[in-house]
Amino acid sequence: MTMALPDLAAMEAWGRRIADALRPGDVVALSGGLGAGKTTLARAIIAGLGHDGEVPSPSFAIIEPYDPPAVRLPLVHADFYRLNHPEEAQEIGLDDYRDGAVLIAEWPDHAGGFAHEPGCLSIALEVGEEGRIAIVEGGADWLGRIPV
Ligand SMILES: Nc1ncnc2c1ncn2[C@@H]1O[C@H](COP(=O)(O)OP(=O)(O)OP(=O)(O)O)[C@@H](O)[C@H]1O
Ligand SMILES: [Mg+2]
Repeated sequence: MTMALPDLAAMEAWGRRIADALRPGDVVALSGGLGAGKTTLARAIIAGLGHDGEVPSPSFAIIEPYDPPAVRLPLVHADFYRLNHPEEAQEIGLDDYRDGAVLIAEWPDHAGGFAHEPGCLSIALEVGEEGRIAIVEGGADWLGRIPV
């Protein structure tokens, strides 16, 4: 499926609809080049889960956890850009962070990718003529649940 995201308001609204659909264990894998809008969409999803306030870009920390009651579900926001090998995701304890949580992953391929997981919603962002275009694919758990 493709989704037109002509401006920041569209990004914000879609992020909130994705947030409403999320269940523990899901992954939102956000790919796309520099400036494609990955962090913008991640921030909208995190706000949609209830977080009120700033969402630091995890490009330095790599992993940024958020826990209830400030958010509806525990979630981990990760930016794997700086990983040199997928194994490093395990070394920083990704599996422990993910236990019972939603993972929002920027540069997911740098962590080995998550598209094989039934709970993975893969979103590839591209610069379009107007704003951004998202190419969306969901794993088996997302059947009938992909927000439009
Ligand atoms: N749908 C949209 N329409 C127009 N501008 C957008 C849209 N989404 C994001 N932007 C703008 O694109 C710029 C880059 O967005 P963002 O920082 O989220 O990209 P990124 O993919 O996280 O980049 P990086 O890989 O460098 O961290 C920002 O200025 C943001 O406001
Ligand atoms: Mg970013």
